[in-house]
This record gives sequence, C-alpha cells and structure tokens, in this order.
Amino acid sequence: MRVLVIHGPNLQLLGSRQSAIYGTANLEVINQELRRGASARGAILTIAQSNHEGQIVELIGKAKGRYDAIVINPAAYTHTSVAIRDAIEAAGVPTVEVHLSNIYARESFRHQSLLAPVCRGQIAGFGIASYRLGLEAAVGLAEAAAPTPAASRTPARRPRPRPRRRARR
Ligand code: DQA
Repeated sequence: MRVLVIHGPNLQLLGSRQSAIYGTANLEVINQELRRGASARGAILTIAQSNHEGQIVELIGKAKGRYDAIVINPAAYTHTSVAIRDAIEAAGVPTVEVHLSNIYARESFRHQSLLAPVCRGQIAGFGIASYRLGLEAAVGLAEAAAPTPAASRTPARRPRPRPRRRARR
C-alpha cells in the first residue's frame, strides 16, 4: 500500500503555532508518528508539506496510479480551495481529510469544508491522533480496493465431480 500524506499551508509552524489549538507536537514529530504507523501496517509513506495551492493540486494530480490512498490536512485551503477539491475528485484516489482541531467548534468560516464532499471521510479534533486515525482509515480504504491474492487465485467455477457409475455385474 502506498499512501501520500499532504500537509497544507502553515503546518510547518506546528509546535510554535497556537499550541492551545494545535498542540505542542511539531511536524517532524507528527511525521515520525505517521511513519511508525505506516510501517506497522506495511504501508509505504510519502510525506509532503506545501504552502502553495498549485503545488498541492499538482501532487494530487500525479497521485493516480502512484498511490493507493491520500491523507490530507488542507489547513486553510479546506475552506477556500475549489482547485484542490477538483483535483481530489479528478484523481479518484481514496482521500481522507484530517484536522488537528475541531473545525466545527471554531470560527464560523472554518465550519465549511469544500473538500469533505469529495473525500471518503473526515477526521477532526483529535490533535495528532487525527493523523493516526486518518492513516488507519486510508490504509483500510486502500486494502479494501485492492484485489485479494486468494480471490484472484480461486477459479470462477469449480468443475463438478462426475457421478461415478456402478460397475455392472
Ligand atoms: C487545520 C484547521 C484549519 O481551519 C486551519 O486553517 C489550519 C489547521 C487543523 O488541522 O485543525 O491551518 O486544518
């Protein structure tokens, strides 16, 4: 399973940015946690952070065929970016939206996510655990989409055993 993790704008400041809201863990700590979780699940992780909408659009645009799932914290672009929404929809790669904070318990402009309708689900409000849960969900989605080796080996129809004739005396 290959999973792409995207951190949006200003998340490079985690640890020193509004720690009462976002916690004290910095991005490296979050990434280490994600890498640990991924190796426990046998998933291969690629992690990117960008402050630029176009760069995030390009990362998602190149994800089809390269990744089995995406975990994204779109940060402020959650509430504004039609371009990222369209990229997720076009890529068709199962995507999980995550937020450290509970965006619905904050300012009203954060209550709307333009991306949630094109993501498979959203996890918000659990701090660093939002990422852990998001990765778990993404790996689960990727596994569910993958053909099981056992199923592909099973023949579609088993030949029926022929009824044996009794030997005549
Ligand atoms: C955030 C919530 C967003 O509203 C905000 O703009 C962020 C971080 C979160 O993780 O809680 O930058 O995505």
